[in-house]
Amino acid sequence: MQVYFFYFMKSHEKISPTAWSVAYGRTFSDVPFSREIFNELDILRQKESAKIPGGKKKRVVAVQFEARYKLINRFLKQKGYKQILEIAAGLTPRGLEFCQDRSVNFVEFDLPAIIAQKRQIIKILEKKRIITPLPNLRFVSGNALISADLEKASGNLNLSKPVSIVTEGLLRYLTFKEKKLLARNIRAVLLKAGGVWLTPDTQTQDKRTQNMRKSTAGFSQLTGRDIEKNYFRNIAEAKSFFSNLGFKVESHQFSEIQNELVILKRLQFPKKQIDLNLKTRYLFVMEPDA
Ligand SMILES: C[S@@+](CC[C@H](N)C(=O)[O-])C[C@H]1O[C@@H](n2cnc3c(N)ncnc32)[C@H](O)[C@@H]1O
Repeated sequence: MQVYFFYFMKSHEKISPTAWSVAYGRTFSDVPFSREIFNELDILRQKESAKIPGGKKKRVVAVQFEARYKLINRFLKQKGYKQILEIAAGLTPRGLEFCQDRSVNFVEFDLPAIIAQKRQIIKILEKKRIITPLPNLRFVSGNALISADLEKASGNLNLSKPVSIVTEGLLRYLTFKEKKLLARNIRAVLLKAGGVWLTPDTQTQDKRTQNMRKSTAGFSQLTGRDIEKNYFRNIAEAKSFFSNLGFKVESHQFSEIQNELVILKRLQFPKKQIDLNLKTRYLFVMEPDA
């Protein structure tokens, strides 16, 4: 068990800096607290001279970041659940945003180093009075592939009431074996509490362009993960993967949120590129089969 634990921790730690890259991409959107979080990260990062994966460039993938963030929020609000567990939360502002409503309980879960960094950033934002302390926002560190870690995180919520579980930007870094472990751990929580699992991590190999592959290669190298191999072959395969693991799958194209995306006006990418980023990507909203 110890060896297993050590392997997972070590091999996944290299994924954590990708959270910086998403945090940077979100600064082009109007997502609340995105800039504030990134500004503090930038100061900390420069002290440690750590680089943002993918660089500080206006990458078209920022369109996806804004779309998936807002689409998830739309369904979280629609489901009306007051309990949210975000796995692999990284530097997302979602906890800050949702916890402005004190009737919401939100748990952010990620590997230890990034949780420590997030706590540090939150403390600075509190000190600067950009945010007030939020007693309904909790941070738990651990590894999502270890069921006991996820149980510990979900133990911060009332499991006699439904829970929404979010994973955004994690699955492409996991092999299919690891995705299965994660799905089983999530299903176990949802079978106790009821609720849904929301994930936009449904990239498929049949929709990859040369440029996408090129940009992903750098991330594969950085994380030590063969990302292209971790993608589903097509969307039908993605759906059956989760339904074979005991989930009812509802899918929503990213373009459903297109009208709410400010990045489209701010960064003016060509229509063809925007379509590729919004019309080939889906959010899955999943409930466990009884
Ligand atoms: C691309 S980032 C996404 C962060 C955040 N969800 C967002 O959209 O901004 C991937 C995140 O997965 C986390 N991660 C990777 N492996 C993990 C694991 N086994 N358990 C928990 N978190 C993990 C990393 O630490 C990192 O924060």
